[in-house]
Amino acid sequence: MENSPFNITSHSPEETIAAGEWLASWLHQGSVVALRGGLGVGKTYFTKGIARGLGVQEEVTSPTYTMIAEYQGVLPLYHIDAYRLEGDADFSSLGADEMFYGTGVSVIEWSERIPQSIPKDALIVEITLLEQNHRLITLRNIPE
Ligand SMILES: Nc1ncnc2c1ncn2[C@@H]1O[C@H](COP(=O)(O)OP(=O)(O)OP(=O)(O)O)[C@@H](O)[C@H]1O
Ligand SMILES: [Mg+2]
Repeated sequence: MENSPFNITSHSPEETIAAGEWLASWLHQGSVVALRGGLGVGKTYFTKGIARGLGVQEEVTSPTYTMIAEYQGVLPLYHIDAYRLEGDADFSSLGADEMFYGTGVSVIEWSERIPQSIPKDALIVEITLLEQNHRLITLRNIPE
């Protein structure tokens, strides 16, 4: 994918789930998906799709209060919400960064809040609200 972004447009929550499900087929042990985008833009819906693609049976919900939720699919899925974290030090103190090098797939909402903690080989997925139900989903690598 190099550094040229890959764009997907979504016109409904279902299409955002489908985009996440498609992405899941490219993920493997240790993959980190760093989600970016404002409040209510669809980060949790995209994660629901990743979970579906990984064969997670349980319903994925927002981990805003728990901060980390773990689900079991063909691989473990770690769903992290950094919204309430003050920054990278806060994240490290949770011991959560070790997950990034583990055996599962990690998906982080509000990843822009913990920039130093995101591994260099993470995939950045930025979701932008275009109008009403219309979203632009951009996939790219972290620039060198
Ligand atoms: N194309 C779309 N893709 C995703 N969600 C959409 C779309 N159109 C409308 N929605 C609505 O937008 C909301 C997205 O909610 P979601 O919880 O996924 O956002 P979020 O980015 O995780 O929010 P938060 O910042 O609170 O974590 C839902 O209510 C969903 O129904
Ligand atoms: Mg969310």
